[in-house]
Amino acid sequence: MPRLPFGHKSRPRVYVTRELPGDAIERLRDHADVDVWHQDTPPPREYIVQAVAQADGLLCLLTDNIDAGVIEAGQRLRIVSTMAVGYDHIDVEACSRRGIMVTNTPGVLTETTADFTFALLLAAARRLPEAERAVRDGRWSTWDPSFLLGQDAGGATLGIVGLGAIGAAVARRARGFDMRVLYYSRTQRPDDVELGVTYAPFEKLLAESDFISVHVPLTAETRHMFNADAFDRMKPTAIFINTARGAVVDETALLRALETQRIAAAAIDVAEVEPVPKHDMLLRMPNLLVTPHIASASVATRQRMARMAVDTIIETLEGKTPEHCVNVDAVQGGVERPD
Ligand code: DGY
Repeated sequence: MPRLPFGHKSRPRVYVTRELPGDAIERLRDHADVDVWHQDTPPPREYIVQAVAQADGLLCLLTDNIDAGVIEAGQRLRIVSTMAVGYDHIDVEACSRRGIMVTNTPGVLTETTADFTFALLLAAARRLPEAERAVRDGRWSTWDPSFLLGQDAGGATLGIVGLGAIGAAVARRARGFDMRVLYYSRTQRPDDVELGVTYAPFEKLLAESDFISVHVPLTAETRHMFNADAFDRMKPTAIFINTARGAVVDETALLRALETQRIAAAAIDVAEVEPVPKHDMLLRMPNLLVTPHIASASVATRQRMARMAVDTIIETLEGKTPEHCVNVDAVQGGVERPD
């Protein structure tokens, strides 16, 4: 696309809700006039509404709530591209109604997220945060046969809930640890035998797993899927890991399960409210390991995600349909545009 001077009416305009890693924004500037929110925290909703009113494309993050009101403001908006695989923060239906494409960044973060899931699993199993604190606090007095005993991952049973790309990548890592892997998914995967995993109904998976790792998207169906009943079905030695979305867990139930030691521990990278408020009771639980939503946070992966999010905007502005358009059927169904 030829470069036109800034502000020229035929040059498309894109609003980006945060600085991005790598050269992503520079690439975008070759194709459009780009406005970027330069602060470290997300732009206020009113600001997004205002910016979207002038924009042909919106590149947002999972911290931005792109609801129907925001979409309504985007009178000339053609694409909402999120730099995330999860798109529960976007009202996809509202976009589809207006013929606006919604794209995400699947694939490029799979292995990085699976690595981090395993890091959490091992850290919680072997009580790494407690051990590190003990050393720094001067509580390493001697080699003690009973000090900070954890659980073995090798040979244990891992229950994977949601066997999409990330769940499958976690399963592959589990094989290296000689784990027995059960999985529960809406549909049974045809390649499950090849992957070395066994389908189990949800209740059976909960009852038999030593580690339970969540990899489902957040939908109306999965919201609070891990409630008091689910935690009650787990082994008292179970370790629960969540790198998916906070709201798939009822955190009141999780808090209670940890407090009463109904389960042994949890390791979570996501929370119902992010960031977790400093005084949240969950943060007082010694058997909780919590990290700030960084499962995909490697230098290379975040650059790939940014690049992919930008590329889908460029493709859309060039009149193409990007590969990872989550509402492609609705958009190609021929929705009338209001101009
Ligand atoms: C996603 O992409 O949805 C993750 O939560 C952040 O990488």
